[in-house]
Amino acid sequence: MSQDKPMNAPQFQSFFEGRQALDALPVSPVAAPELSIILPAYNEAGNIPLIVDKIADAMGDIPYEVLVVDDDSPDGTARVTRSIAREKPNVRCVRRVGRRGLSGACIEGMMAANAPVVVVMDADMQHDETRLPVMLDEIRNGADLVIGSRYVDGGNASSGFQKKTRAKGSELATALANRITGSYTTDPMSGFFMMRRELADRAAPEISRDGFKILFDIVSRFGSELTIREVPFQFRERVEGESKLGFLVTVQFLGLLVSRYTGGFLPVKFLLYGLVGFSGLFVHMATLFLANGVFGIAFSTAQLAATFVAMTTNFAFNNEITYAHRKLTGLRLITGLATFYLVCGIGALANVSIAVRMFEWDWSASVAGLAGALMSAVFNYAVTKLVTWRDI
Ligand code: GDD
Ligand code: MN
Repeated sequence: MSQDKPMNAPQFQSFFEGRQALDALPVSPVAAPELSIILPAYNEAGNIPLIVDKIADAMGDIPYEVLVVDDDSPDGTARVTRSIAREKPNVRCVRRVGRRGLSGACIEGMMAANAPVVVVMDADMQHDETRLPVMLDEIRNGADLVIGSRYVDGGNASSGFQKKTRAKGSELATALANRITGSYTTDPMSGFFMMRRELADRAAPEISRDGFKILFDIVSRFGSELTIREVPFQFRERVEGESKLGFLVTVQFLGLLVSRYTGGFLPVKFLLYGLVGFSGLFVHMATLFLANGVFGIAFSTAQLAATFVAMTTNFAFNNEITYAHRKLTGLRLITGLATFYLVCGIGALANVSIAVRMFEWDWSASVAGLAGALMSAVFNYAVTKLVTWRDI
């Protein structure tokens, strides 16, 4: 038996023969891409076929691939992309389920890309695809990161914003962000940027998955080590669909800015959690006033009711804002609320016992009270993050 050939030898042989036959093919059927174009897309079914065609026109002979990163959009963005991909082998769809968020989508797209250079751009045609070859030339000439800028000479932002408030908001956010990113770029909020894949690989584990500000994150962390170039572009008006940059994204971004101002010491989620907790204070006082002051309910009952109302609104806001990317729905909303009550209840007990103990140890009432409250805030944050939202 041992002298016999292994059972699978013939299969091996035919495998290698098959390989030789493949190697003998005159040319590879698809050229290796030089550029991977990442299109994050949420409800962009109407735009995908148009942008794919525009990119093809702009790229000419340069080999490239397109990755549409869809977050399970209800409008069938993934279906539309796949039907294009069946005809065009350089187009792919990455469909993420159970997650939302532009930065996270961009990172996953970059990680799934094959080319040595990657670019992120809006799927809604607001970014000028004819700039792609110009940006790629900058990389070929030694840049690590090339930013499509609306604020450098020759660029323009105003036409892309449908509302005046959006244009003003973007200017303010850019000014604030500029204080952190310094002189590295004129448009740290741009959603149009190209980089070498080594930079994407390095940055991916470091940058925040929430919100819109992936470029800001990269520049504020790695700016000093990079050769950065800017290419002006005109921010075009959105034709199909609507913008996803709303209140939530703005609040998340402000949280990111404060987090950066503290040198990253306070995590964005903790700040948002704190902000929500602060709003809970107002909810609590308003409920207490209504129940006790207006409806004459006994103080202890009113205080208990106010506590529950504030915990419930805190839970709802955290679910919508702090943990938007892990939002609980359906049955998990109920179990999540139950664990939230439970954890906050334990946090309150710990708060009171620590404060009382400190007070007994002759600390002043305000110091003891503050220490108890801070302790329970950190405890509630850390435990509900893990238990309620399973955000590890
Ligand atoms: N997969 C995925 N998941 N894609 C998303 C998500 C998401 O949660 N949110 C938005 N997108 C996609 C959109 O479908 C679009 O292709 C792109 O990301 C940008 O979103 P828009 O909703 O079009 O943003 P905007 O045009 O209002 O904002 C633009 O300007 C901002 C600065 O003012 C974008 O260029 C932003 O990237 C930029 O920061
Ligand atoms: Mn857009």
